[in-house]
Order: sequence, then structure tokens, then C-alpha cells
Amino acid sequence: MKDLDSLALKVEGGRLRILDQTRLPFAEVWLDGSDPGAMTGHIQRLAVRGAPLIGVAAALSLAAQAEAGASEARLRASWVELRKARPTAVNLMAALDRMKAVLDSGGGTTDLVATAEGIFEEDAALCEALAVHGVGLLAAGETVLTHCNSGGLATAGIGTALGVIRRGFEAGKVAHVFVDETRPLLQGARLTAWELKTLGIPFTLLTDSMAAILLREGRVSRVLVGADRIARNGDFANKVGTYGLAVQARHHGVPFHPVAPWTTVDLACANGAAIPIEARKAEEVRGYGTTLWAPDCEVFNPSFDVTPSALVTSLVLDRGVAAAGSDLAAFTPA
Ligand code: MRU
Repeated sequence: MKDLDSLALKVEGGRLRILDQTRLPFAEVWLDGSDPGAMTGHIQRLAVRGAPLIGVAAALSLAAQAEAGASEARLRASWVELRKARPTAVNLMAALDRMKAVLDSGGGTTDLVATAEGIFEEDAALCEALAVHGVGLLAAGETVLTHCNSGGLATAGIGTALGVIRRGFEAGKVAHVFVDETRPLLQGARLTAWELKTLGIPFTLLTDSMAAILLREGRVSRVLVGADRIARNGDFANKVGTYGLAVQARHHGVPFHPVAPWTTVDLACANGAAIPIEARKAEEVRGYGTTLWAPDCEVFNPSFDVTPSALVTSLVLDRGVAAAGSDLAAFTPA
């Protein structure tokens, strides 16, 4: 495999490595990603995360296994395991299905490697296309609120919503960013705060329940978020908390936009009700890491929620900005 370089995934001298995002922001630990079995575990425990990046990482780990001489039967077994590592982000399935199409058409290691490298490079390019369209929406001096992490840690490029924020800042249009901490796994506090700090973009961290105050006080000019799966009618799943934010933004008349590449659009889902939502462990809500603060009790822990397109101002896609209510088939490759 050729060398590839992104914030949280690298191929160096044929070795696939991922940055362990569970250790950020205080330790930068790189893990080997060339074994699909290990990669399945890395995806499940969110060492590698973010809809586009889990697709890229899964495809590259399959390519690495092919390069190591695995049989076709072994590759197909790995494909099955990787594909069910997490259920909501459709980028994982989309990337792996492109790898399976290579196997099905009799392709060999060279073809698998070229396809996986192509998925990496395509994702980086899609991020830049999103930024062009997203920055086009921004006025000067915007104060943007975001949820979860949709940046370089979640993609092979500059990110989706956070990529728009980054390019918007560079263009002098984003003045300040408000970052939801994003309970329960704190992707905002641990990851988005780390990225923005590294980039020198001014931001304020808040707990999720504080966003409504900022929206009411007129201190947020726009909400930009990523997406894990967008249904054909524009309903979309993203990190839990996004739906509540959309309700609050609508109530206060603040524009609200998901930002995502076509690889996140699932035309097979007619609307949000068809999107599978991952349920995660009770311990993630009862505490954090090894610290528990709630007693052993029943817990509700959906990893994602669905925002109806009726709450969306418009969707920023790599092919342009889609008005809420558009049929997204027009924004995806045939
Ligand atoms: O559970 P995670 O951290 O993988 O969830 C990530 C999100 O919800 C992101 O907003 C989404 O994947 C878009 S990232 C470009």
C-alpha cells in the first residue's frame, strides 16, 4: 500500500496505523490497524470513529489483510465482521461494499489496495468540496455551534461540519465556535476541543444542556453538525443530542445544517424511521471510563438520534446545498 497521511489514520511503509481516540486529548497513542479482527474492535470501542473514517479504516484494513496474503475466504469472513462493527454510520457499509464488489468481480490484492486507497483519497477530496459549499453559506463574523466531532479525527481530510468551520475561519467568516461536550462519550470536549485548539480557532466549551441559553440569547448565528446516515428525504442520524439541538435552533430561529458527503446518504432509507440506531452499554451513561457515579440501574443509551428534515434549514453536501425536503437522489452518484 502507498503511504497515506491524515490526522487519525496513516499508512507508513505498508503499515496501517490509527490514532487511539479514546486516549485523546492527553495521550497520542497509535495502534496497528492491519488486522481486520483488531480493527473491528477498534471501531466498536471508538478508538477509530466518525462515519467517514470508520469506512476508510475498514476498507484499508481489508486491503492490508489481502497484502499479507490472506485467502479470499478469510477476506470474506473479515468483511462480514467489519461490516457489522457498528450499525448506524452507512459509510462503513458503503466502503466495504465497494471492497466486496472487487472480490465479487474476481479482483486481486492490487485491485483491493487501489480501491481502499481510492476511498481514502476520495474522502479527503469530499471534505474540501463540502467546505466550499458550506463556506458559501456563511456571512462574516459567524458564531457557530457544533455537536460531537466531525473534524479531521472523523474523516481522512479536514472534516465535514468542522471542515466548513475551519475553512470558514481561514476565510474570516467564522469568528467563534461553541462546542457541545457531547455526552456520554465526550467527543466534543475531548476531540473537537483538541482539534480547534491545535488549529488556533477560538472556541468555548459547554455542556449539552447549556446550548439552549446561547441560542435564546442570540449568541449563536448557525448550527453545523455532521451526520452518520442521511435518508432519501433528508431526515438524518447523528450523535445523540443533535435532535434536541435542532428543536432548540428552530424555536430560536437559528439556521441548522447537517454537513456530509454522498457516502453518508442512504437512498435505501426512505426516511429516518428506517435508520438503525446503535444502543451502547449502560456503563457509558452510569459513568465515564472506570469511574461510575450512578448505581446499577436501567439505562437508556442510544448512540445516535434522528433529526427530521423539517427541522433542517438546508443540507450541505459535496455536490451542493440541498434545500430541506429535496429528494437526495439528485445529490448522489447514479
Ligand atoms: O460515535 P461517533 O463518535 O462515531 O459519532 C460520530 C458522529 O456522530 C459524527 O457527527 C458523524 O460521524 C459525522 S463525522 C464527520
